[in-house]
Amino acid sequence: MNNSVTLGLDEALLSELLRELGREAKAFRFEVAPNPCVGAAALSGGRVLARGYHQSWGGVHAEVAALEAAHKADPKGKPDLLVVTLEPCSSEGKTGACTDAILAAKIPRVVVGELDPDPRHKGRGMEVLRAAGVEVFLLEGSAPLRDVSPQFLRWLQPERLRRPRPHLLAKWAQTRTGQLEPPEDIGDGRWISCEVSVQEVQRLRGKTDAILTGMGTVLADDPRLSVRAPGDPTHAPLRVVLDSYLRTPPEARLFDPVQSNEGLGELHILTIAGADAARWRALEKAGAQVHGLHGEGGDHVALAEALTWLWDRGVRRALLEAGPTLLQACLDRNFVDQVRIYTGEVSGGRGVSMGSWMQSAKLLERLDRESGQDAVIEAFLE
Ligand SMILES: NC(=O)c1ccc[n+]([C@@H]2O[C@H](COP(=O)([O-])OP(=O)(O)OC[C@H]3O[C@@H](n4cnc5c(N)ncnc54)[C@H](OP(=O)(O)O)[C@@H]3O)[C@@H](O)[C@H]2O)c1
Repeated sequence: MNNSVTLGLDEALLSELLRELGREAKAFRFEVAPNPCVGAAALSGGRVLARGYHQSWGGVHAEVAALEAAHKADPKGKPDLLVVTLEPCSSEGKTGACTDAILAAKIPRVVVGELDPDPRHKGRGMEVLRAAGVEVFLLEGSAPLRDVSPQFLRWLQPERLRRPRPHLLAKWAQTRTGQLEPPEDIGDGRWISCEVSVQEVQRLRGKTDAILTGMGTVLADDPRLSVRAPGDPTHAPLRVVLDSYLRTPPEARLFDPVQSNEGLGELHILTIAGADAARWRALEKAGAQVHGLHGEGGDHVALAEALTWLWDRGVRRALLEAGPTLLQACLDRNFVDQVRIYTGEVSGGRGVSMGSWMQSAKLLERLDRESGQDAVIEAFLE
């Protein structure tokens, strides 16, 4: 392709734009996973009117963000070219198809930095646009997914497509010495992270399909697993408890009616099939849906089956908020795709330390940041 003739734009300039968009889109990697990081720009007469990015899982896609930003900046301006790092999607998911948005905006030309690697979608977005009369150009090499969004390529590995399970994000708070429980005389013997971090977690909960925890956390903390401000209470992820022997008390706060200030998802308890029938009935009467799965390794609920169960209910991004037992079990089985670790200003603590795991773990695309007084590590796992 001779872009300088066909597009009236220098190929080197387009490549540079794609490179920048890819770099900028990558900043949102921990918010969008397992979706890909994508950046887009709307241009008119070779001038960039606006840029847009896929910024949060379930949120608007980069193409739509760029077109909306261009319209906002100049409602009369007419973009005549859209540059996007990844082939636009052509099917409806949590948002509408980007190809529809491009056609509705009457964009005559589109430059794409890489084809969708998903074998189920590869090339389809290009075809849909071309069939509708849009000139579409592929300019590969400047914003390759292996640099911009390697986690998306892991998500599409054949083994993963064959045996699908949700993207599992494990979030925990630990003391400086790696324990998930503080000393008894600190934070009511329960709280490690600061208020800013607690609020961050509420926002995170509102961006997931399910919150997963273990029976030990239910007994110790009596959590609610709801979404409260500043999270989005209109989005209430499923609440899922792994409880092999139905020891969850029917009077736990999990069963309290929904309050006006919270989003409260359906409550599901995953147990081993054949668990005590009277407890089963009592929990169902209290409002939970109880599901019997197989047991494994020391007779806990089978983890792989629990994850398949989540996938079959449409869960694609799940948040693991468990104590050290279930957390370590998921890490040992390589079921955790992403971590967010809050280290509070607390030393010592009770229970096992995550210290040795932290030393040996391979943390990919690691980001170190602060949240109030807490140190935060975000990373993907292989
Ligand atoms: N700092 C933090 O971020 C944080 C977060 C949550 C909890 N906590 C603290 O952690 C403590 C509780 O720790 P915990 O380890 O008991 O809680 P947990 O990991 O949430 O729950 C563990 C229980 O989950 C059940 N389970 C079901 N299927 C399992 C499987 N396949 N593998 C492993 N476990 C499975 C097991 O009981 P059964 O098999 O018998 O059902 C197990 O005892 C509390 O003090 C709590 O405050 C801290």
